[in-house]
Amino acid sequence: MIIGVPREIKTDEKRVAITPAGVSAFVGNKHVVLVEKDAGVGSGILDDAYTAAGAQICADVKEIWERADMIIKVKEPLEPEFPLMRKGQVIFTYLHLAADRALTEKLIQKKVIAIAYETIQLDDGTLPLLAPMSEVAGRLSIQMGAYCLEAKNGGSGILLPGVSGVPPAKVVIIGAGIAGASACSVAVGIGARVSILDINPARLRYIHDIMQGHISTLMSNPASVEQAVAGADLVIGAVLIPGSRAPKLITRAMLKRMRRGSALVDIAIDQGGSCETSHPTTHTNPTYIEEGVVHYCVANMPGAVPRTSTYALTNATLQYGLDLANKGWERAVKDNPILKKGVNIAEGNVTHCGVAEAFGFKCIPV
Ligand SMILES: NC(=O)c1ccc[n+]([C@@H]2O[C@H](COP(=O)([O-])OP(=O)(O)OC[C@H]3O[C@@H](n4cnc5c(N)ncnc54)[C@H](O)[C@@H]3O)[C@@H](O)[C@H]2O)c1
Repeated sequence: MIIGVPREIKTDEKRVAITPAGVSAFVGNKHVVLVEKDAGVGSGILDDAYTAAGAQICADVKEIWERADMIIKVKEPLEPEFPLMRKGQVIFTYLHLAADRALTEKLIQKKVIAIAYETIQLDDGTLPLLAPMSEVAGRLSIQMGAYCLEAKNGGSGILLPGVSGVPPAKVVIIGAGIAGASACSVAVGIGARVSILDINPARLRYIHDIMQGHISTLMSNPASVEQAVAGADLVIGAVLIPGSRAPKLITRAMLKRMRRGSALVDIAIDQGGSCETSHPTTHTNPTYIEEGVVHYCVANMPGAVPRTSTYALTNATLQYGLDLANKGWERAVKDNPILKKGVNIAEGNVTHCGVAEAFGFKCIPV
């Protein structure tokens, strides 16, 4: 199979979908890997490293899309890439289609096989290809929250850990999954006063245990969210309903009750956001202020730390990419029900029911 790895073109996205070790693994399985010139530069991986691993470097991205049976990317295809997609081509990347009707319609129209990293799901319900990036985003969210709270950024001027004689900030994390738990460990580590909410008591029990009681765990419902948000200096939105739009748990009215200059880092913005006032921002202009609350809503947070993120992502994607290349997508999906859950669109049909429901399309499972 010919595997194509284009350079990411999303604003400020510096990750790349393959490392030299990944190239070696594909080449070792008798596949051809085409990597776009300078695709890895943002992650500190130079073309020579790919060439040494057996990749061919292509200066022309059109050639990559034309020749490749499977395109491996990091972020969803963007407008300039739409005309390059070919019927029957496998596109293996993050897609987050439930929040993007235009892209969903384009992938249907192009009759590609769109396999989304974020909906590949293990039997225990966990998402192995979202997990590493959720871990990065969760850890980063506290760093970004601290930035939002700085006075020069419109924040209330609160230092997360406080100092002797001045109490620490109150951090409220909604969603105690991978991102929420990662945010929690950094927030606790930095010395903030942390509360975390979830609808899953098992997750709350787990977090309570690993944090040895250094946090408050709260069952999530509209009343508990409202109360926690009102008293928070920093709110982290980290909920997920796999394959669906994020529930809008935080309302504009709740923000109005927060202290001016408080902050909201809505990690779930890539699924539409968990707050009524959230809209996506970029690394160049990451924040805006509404109802006096500084919002940070970057949809590709791990792009801020591309080197860590590239290695963490490719550690997780490689085995599935190899499976698709070695067997072809149909056989690979037939053999592996976990991978099958990743198929969102195939040959003009929406095959993921969460995505179909989001837009009122018919769901035709693979
Ligand atoms: N912005 C970014 O760059 C970025 C990067 C990685 C992940 N994400 C997003 O972060 C979010 C969290 O991802 P994750 O991997 O931690 O997911 P996860 O499945 O591990 O955790 C999500 C948690 O949300 C909980 N939840 C669902 N509904 C809830 C509710 N009403 N109230 C409270 N909790 C609720 C679930 O029980 C679960 O524990 C996702 O939307 C994901 O797409 C964003």
